[in-house]
Amino acid sequence: MSRSTPPVQFDPLHRLWLLSTPNTAYALRLDAHDVPRHVYWGRPLTLAQAASVPEVRRPADSSFESPVGDGGELTTDGFGAQSLLLAFSDGTTQVDWRFLGHTVTDGELVVRLADRHYPLEADLHYRVHEDSDVIERWTTLRHNDPDGQDILMTRTDSASWTAPPRPSYRLSHTTGAWTTEFQLERLPLPIGETLLTSRRGVSSHQSHPWLMIDDGTADEEHGEVWSAALAWSGSWRISVDRNPAGRLTWTGGFGHDGLSWRLHPGETWQTPPFHGLFSAGGFGTASRAWHDHITRHVLPHPEELRPIVYNSWEATGWAVTEANQKGLAATAAALGAELFVMDDGWFGARDGDDAGLGDWTVNPTHFPDGLAPLIDEVQRLGMRFGLWVEPEMVNPDSDLYRAHPDWVLHQPHRTQTTMRNQLVLNFARPDVATWAHKWLDALVRDHAIDYLKWDMNRAFTEAGWPEAGPDASRLWIDHVRGVYTIIDRLREDHPHLRVQACAGGGGRADLGMLTRTDEVWISDNTDAADRITIQHGYSQVYPARTMAAWVTDSPNFLTRRALPLRFRFHVAMAGVLGIGGNLLEWTPADLAEATTLITHYKTIRPTIQHGTQHRLTTQAGHTAVQYTSPDSSQIVVIAWRQPVRTGHPAFPIRLHSLDPNALYRDEDTGTIHHGTILLNHGIAPDLPADYTSTLIQLQRIP
Ligand code: DGJ
Repeated sequence: MSRSTPPVQFDPLHRLWLLSTPNTAYALRLDAHDVPRHVYWGRPLTLAQAASVPEVRRPADSSFESPVGDGGELTTDGFGAQSLLLAFSDGTTQVDWRFLGHTVTDGELVVRLADRHYPLEADLHYRVHEDSDVIERWTTLRHNDPDGQDILMTRTDSASWTAPPRPSYRLSHTTGAWTTEFQLERLPLPIGETLLTSRRGVSSHQSHPWLMIDDGTADEEHGEVWSAALAWSGSWRISVDRNPAGRLTWTGGFGHDGLSWRLHPGETWQTPPFHGLFSAGGFGTASRAWHDHITRHVLPHPEELRPIVYNSWEATGWAVTEANQKGLAATAAALGAELFVMDDGWFGARDGDDAGLGDWTVNPTHFPDGLAPLIDEVQRLGMRFGLWVEPEMVNPDSDLYRAHPDWVLHQPHRTQTTMRNQLVLNFARPDVATWAHKWLDALVRDHAIDYLKWDMNRAFTEAGWPEAGPDASRLWIDHVRGVYTIIDRLREDHPHLRVQACAGGGGRADLGMLTRTDEVWISDNTDAADRITIQHGYSQVYPARTMAAWVTDSPNFLTRRALPLRFRFHVAMAGVLGIGGNLLEWTPADLAEATTLITHYKTIRPTIQHGTQHRLTTQAGHTAVQYTSPDSSQIVVIAWRQPVRTGHPAFPIRLHSLDPNALYRDEDTGTIHHGTILLNHGIAPDLPADYTSTLIQLQRIP
């Protein structure tokens, strides 16, 4: 797009809109029945070129095929996966749109539609930015008859996205479980419907709300990739529909199958944004475009460098005391930590996971004089102070539950399944949300708290809200909205407060949480070897600046694998470095090495956190990632070797985004490299044995 190209153009003759981003174009039009249909998504086009895009050939003219075109912008017809599923009071389920008009303001297009007979309006929103190729889309539904009947809705997606016709398609996404989040899966997309979903009340460890599509030929550096990510932190669903005629459309939004909501007379219903991105430069370019968009348009404080956190969880578990936390804080500060976070165990009758959740007053046995002496000490040591909270949960063995057993998600006459000995508080209830906001606000107001780790440790089961009657399913949406509202209010009222998103590790890592948190605890698995794969998956969409990573003890508490300290550090240094081990048991040699590595990290932190990331290689046991500083003067390459078969060759790693005519100095060895050699031949990292690692720091010679 040239600088003079307007972000949104309209061709009234063809009733076609063209959205232009710096490197892409997206077109839609109204068909003869006023239904918005997809036209084009790819490299830049002019309005005239977009108008000439041929309609995709319909399948054979048969009474068993759709009488209408496919590729709906919010699919409500045809035989593919539908974006809207609803029923009006007389049982009618089909919508019949009439075009009401459109508005364009500051890069945002709104296409306004109304049903020709029933009291439903829909606004399709599209927003583009001058500095991003991501197109933001969402939908607003409105019941426009204050005296009418409810409209039953079983699916209200944010948007449908359509890729151009290709002979084959491949799907990339991440899957996993607790401690194995973000496992990248890349597989051919079958004809039929492929469902990506979470029915757990959180965006989940098992499937993450984004996908990438290519024709099977893209790789890290080449090829066309269409991708989309949903900004939602509760249950969600993306149906990918590759039909036998070769068309690929996916529709996605909040809520999972089987839920229903009633749209009441006069009510407006807004879906979360479902962002889309086309990239012509392979998966690496797509990832960097997502990172850049998240930095510019999603994160609350992208200008900041994230501090080095010390977190107490793996060191002391629930047995936190003033004395042991002060001991850890002293060592952490000496190493160079900048923010001390006390994890679970500081409140209520919390000596394990079976009691106390919900009773957010300081535990008098663990902290006889309250939190102030610890916080004062942490500050005296030059660090900021953070605290773990899990506001959405309650142990049945708690004063809160004894006082308000009706506050939890539950269904009458049904078992209340506890998981991790806890139940879920219903944040859709205004009284529960008010209670949570009140104690959190007081906690932050009454103590010098700079950071909250907002945790959430179980999926929803028997999720009911008996008092809400037929509106009970709203809890799946309104619980999440409640969480968002509380975090947003806390941040607004306490502008210094920073928040980490956590849900038993990476159970709620998504663009919805990133809109209001500063970093994500992406996994409870702190085994550095496992973490390489987890970080690789996380990086497909989310930037390193949001990826909290701790160095913990060896052997690892979970996997029992022993790994060198340097290797553990080099893995955590690929994101937001933190420390989570029991420092009181580290040897003097470990502490000395850790101090050196932390000091080093601080010098390269702007490049790691604010630079651009290239995933260089994942060849047979060797993984390497490059970070380039915003001004391109500093290059950091971190490489790790995992077990490889003897004699298996390691190839030189070719770097990216360098000036071929410039010289680069290795800051450790003093060796001078030609940019063109680094780009075209590569550099061989010194990785002599399994679980060795290296960090190469290159400085461009002016
Ligand atoms: C799960 C988190 O992921 C851990 O880091 C820790 O905070 C525990 N919860 C505490 O219960």
